Amino acid sequence: LTGSPHHIDLFDNVQFIYELELAHLELNALGATFQTGESLRDIQLLDIEDAASLKKRSAYISSLDGNLTNYNIINQHNQTRSVNQYLTHWFYPYKGKFHPQMIRACLNIMGVSEGDHVLDPFMGSGTTALESTLLGMNCTGFDMSPLCVLQSRVKSESIEILEEITAYRNDFVAQIDTDFDIHSAIENLDMDNEKTANFYKLALLIALSDLIRRKRKPSSTLEKTIDKMLLSVSDHKAVTKHLDLSLGKVHIEQGDARHLPLDDDSIDGVITSPPYSIALDYVSNDKHSLIAMGCDDLEAFRDQVIGVRGRGSDKIVRYNQDMQLCVEEIARVLKSGKFAVVVVGNAVFQGTTINTVDHLITCFSHCGLRLIRNNHKIIFGLYNVMQKENILFFQKGG
Ligand SMILES: C[S@@+](CC[C@H](N)C(=O)[O-])C[C@H]1O[C@@H](n2cnc3c(N)ncnc32)[C@H](O)[C@@H]1O
Repeated sequence: LTGSPHHIDLFDNVQFIYELELAHLELNALGATFQTGESLRDIQLLDIEDAASLKKRSAYISSLDGNLTNYNIINQHNQTRSVNQYLTHWFYPYKGKFHPQMIRACLNIMGVSEGDHVLDPFMGSGTTALESTLLGMNCTGFDMSPLCVLQSRVKSESIEILEEITAYRNDFVAQIDTDFDIHSAIENLDMDNEKTANFYKLALLIALSDLIRRKRKPSSTLEKTIDKMLLSVSDHKAVTKHLDLSLGKVHIEQGDARHLPLDDDSIDGVITSPPYSIALDYVSNDKHSLIAMGCDDLEAFRDQVIGVRGRGSDKIVRYNQDMQLCVEEIARVLKSGKFAVVVVGNAVFQGTTINTVDHLITCFSHCGLRLIRNNHKIIFGLYNVMQKENILFFQKGG
């Protein structure tokens, strides 16, 4: 090979070792042959099987032969100051969101294609769903938390009802005054279309979070939040049209990852991040929103949420048992030869590290999924309780 006439640039923000490792894996998966120069960022292409597909799918390349990649164009539709919160990704300040760029790269590395069926059994804020659909894959997601189901649905589905949510905006905003009560506004949401109601319910929950966490009154935040959300949904629609994307379908339900209502061998790829043992108390974290959504019995709910069940060291025993069941389910529904990507880290309990990563690797191996790659990743952010995590790639029957 003498070198390719094509030239690529990586995004400036691709700097961490794990990102460069993923960028190289992604290039391989998308059919590019390359060599690196003086730095790992200096990539000289030797050959590309399908330049158009690389431009369409890559997560880490910003331009090909001077032309912006699809992902670069998608990224520019961002109503926030946070680089990875483009389109509707920013809806609701959920702790522990995936980095969307990494998910897009993992979908490419796993080799899932348009029309394939991706599963995230711990959907959280719905990052996997939005990213899969942008690449044309259908996505099924489950989460025990109704708040996660709501935010995941609103992020992915509001594009279908842009006219309805826009038409309702002025009537909704007209109710906001200095005495505005978020709880009664949620109770009184009365719309024919469930998706429209969900959009406004999530806006109210974002306002509630601003009130509880930042002491900012809905009279000063809610209207701006709604307008920013509407702009983000318009962005989603505009970029879909501009890039002629055929979006995948989403199916998001409240459900338990220990018992998936899916057929054996029905899934083409899994991308997920389970609770990191007992590191985060998802119930306490989102208590205000769960109560506002009508979840009155938080103790009963707590008993369904992996990692927060039980007390003291019994929590860890239960976590390990629960995760064993979840891994069995992933192994059951995944097609043979296909991949599961699991992002997880070791938590610390009373000064001792809980080895969740090894536990999960053992569970997967017992279920016939071989670990084929383990990328170490730093967690970057001022407020993170954990500093590192792992991106584990498993293959069923591989
Ligand atoms: C690490 S978070 C996932 C974050 C997600 N990757 C994102 O981008 O937002 C783990 C999720 O597992 C959910 N969860 C806990 N127990 C569960 C269960 N039994 N079944 C399904 N989901 C559960 C929690 O509600 C939480 O949203």
